[in-house]
Amino acid sequence: MNDANGIRLYPAKRPILGTTVVPSDKSVTHRRLLIAAINHVENQILLQSPANDVFSTITALQALGIHLHLTTQQYKTKVIVPAKKRFVSPAHPIDCQNSGTTARLLCGLLCSQNVTVQLIGDDSLTKRPMERVAIPLQKMGAKITTSNGTLPIHIQPASLHGISYPLPVASAQVKSAILLAGLFADGITTVIERFQTRDHTERLLQIAPQTVGDGTALQIDHNIHLPDCSGEVPLDISNLAFWIAAAILVNGSCLEWKNVLLNPTRIAYLKLLKAQGAHLDWEVTHTQLGEPIGWLEVRSGGNFHFRIDSELLPLVIDEIPILAVLAAATQGSFELHSAKELRTKESDRIKSIVDNLRRMNIEVEEYLDGFQFEAKDPLRGAKLSSFQDHRIAMAFAVAALVAKGETWIQDAQVASVSDRIFFEQLFLYLR
Ligand code: S3P
Repeated sequence: MNDANGIRLYPAKRPILGTTVVPSDKSVTHRRLLIAAINHVENQILLQSPANDVFSTITALQALGIHLHLTTQQYKTKVIVPAKKRFVSPAHPIDCQNSGTTARLLCGLLCSQNVTVQLIGDDSLTKRPMERVAIPLQKMGAKITTSNGTLPIHIQPASLHGISYPLPVASAQVKSAILLAGLFADGITTVIERFQTRDHTERLLQIAPQTVGDGTALQIDHNIHLPDCSGEVPLDISNLAFWIAAAILVNGSCLEWKNVLLNPTRIAYLKLLKAQGAHLDWEVTHTQLGEPIGWLEVRSGGNFHFRIDSELLPLVIDEIPILAVLAAATQGSFELHSAKELRTKESDRIKSIVDNLRRMNIEVEEYLDGFQFEAKDPLRGAKLSSFQDHRIAMAFAVAALVAKGETWIQDAQVASVSDRIFFEQLFLYLR
């Protein structure tokens, strides 16, 4: 079902039952690796099926002189970050490949580390906006410059001071970059966010949110205790999202997982589905380094009508492609506004979703900051593109499970950016 340029998919031939191997949460993993690289103890971080983006952070840290030691057995990789560590200026530019989180969080961390570094990335990452991180860091005294607002980014040694910064875009990556810089800045650094975004950095660093006006303030100073990041990172709900959708769509399916990250800023997808009658249950059983963790199970069935507004968007920012597929595949409806931010992701996700849905026989209205449709007819198999975007590849692979006929997705192998074994597992269920 693989050829050099893409992947061929067919309707599911049997229910999806049992469980699947899902990667450890990418957002949490990046943050634990970065904090492990600056705390004063040895950290042993256990990862399930780490994907390419996680390796972008691992190889970046190695290039910066942090001697990470990796061992892999079956689907688990143990990363040992030694107790003694010091950043050194790398001989070559650091290639963040496709990983926006690697690039942006490294900006925040490295601008205080007395290193001279150039950050580069692949074609997709090189198009993505970086001034949003450079501006606040420059205000803190960082010597950081972008190339006309994008990568390559150049960082030079500088001393930082705290600032108070209202986030102009709802972005957990920008928030986290500033907080990481604040760990090494004189005085107090405050980030104020109007809309809640994922809060993994705050949880890891035990920063208590404070309500200010119509937003939330997060404060950090250089005296805080850095946690030991050892332990197994729970499963990524944004990757589970594709399997949950597959189980909902393919009749008779039933899937369950343990050790799932159930952080409240990441489960809006689950809540949206449940509110519309999806057979979906989950429960928090314990916490680890501030993150709620538990089990989740899903059974097939449901029709979906989604309306996503600007407050909800940051909480389902990575789930928009699969939400659109769920609505389209169940003759439901979808309406999205104030979502220009989606045009700055791994692809222009508004265009990628609209284009693929149209090819699958759905009439979609696209506008500058969103799109909408009412799906009247079943999905039709078609020649699609991943637009070099892992989430588009996986979302439309799920659509193919219930589309009529054959679907081919160009460059679908890009899924390995966040899940290296997604297709290998999906093929088990195809006709
Ligand atoms: C992420 C934040 C989000 C999300 C990305 C991961 C993070 O990006 O889309 O996949 O780990 O902080 P933005 O902060 O740019 O919205």
